[in-house]
Amino acid sequence: MRKMLIFAVAVLCISCWSAGESFVKFPAADKKGGMPLNEALNNRRTLRKYSTANLSVKQIGDLLWAAYGVNRADGKLTAPTAANRQEIRIYFLTKEGAFAYCPVKHAYKKIDSADLRKYAGVFKAPLYVVIAADLNKAANRHYAVMDTGYVSQNIYLHCASAGLGTCAIGSFTRIREGNKGKVLRDGLKLPAHIEIFLTHSVGVPAK
Ligand SMILES: Cc1cc2nc3c(=O)[nH]c(=O)nc-3n(C[C@H](O)[C@H](O)[C@H](O)COP(=O)(O)O)c2cc1C
Repeated sequence: MRKMLIFAVAVLCISCWSAGESFVKFPAADKKGGMPLNEALNNRRTLRKYSTANLSVKQIGDLLWAAYGVNRADGKLTAPTAANRQEIRIYFLTKEGAFAYCPVKHAYKKIDSADLRKYAGVFKAPLYVVIAADLNKAANRHYAVMDTGYVSQNIYLHCASAGLGTCAIGSFTRIREGNKGKVLRDGLKLPAHIEIFLTHSVGVPAK
């Protein structure tokens, strides 16, 4: 009973911010397999040139699960967050539009049909992941920035393991006249308390 209560509270904690809206489930994430950790660490690197190949929904789902998916029955995640505030918000951008990731449902929801990738980074990538934080939930902004780093490293390691290339991008904030990511945050329709800290370009490495 106690376990069920803890689980319910945890689910409420990270339950997706707009529960009424329609989410599309990703295929179940691969939670086994992949490359041995040391091999992935050895392969981890920044890559900025990608082939034009689009990523499948399964590839995107597996990446987002690795980045910030639920990995325990109590609703905790693949990335730690300070005081378990679970304040990180993950969005992704493709040529089809902008989407929000819901870890609890392992599902996504379309936010807008516009292609916002050019505001997330300068690299030609089929996919951009946006890492943001809900500062109303975060222990503080300092911890939210650190929590972003864990998600970023998860993305790097998953990409190394899955044969994908990625680049963490902090300079998205300087794109479009130093507007602190305004175009990107407006496109994602983010309220003031959600701040974008980092983006990641992702794609199949160019030959
Ligand atoms: C927080 C952070 C921000 C970064 N921002 C950018 C960026 O805006 N543009 C870029 O090309 N690379 C960016 N990088 C990638 C670094 O340049 C890269 O990690 C570094 O050169 C080391 O290369 P490696 O990742 O292959 O070890 C960023 C990396 C981190 C961790």
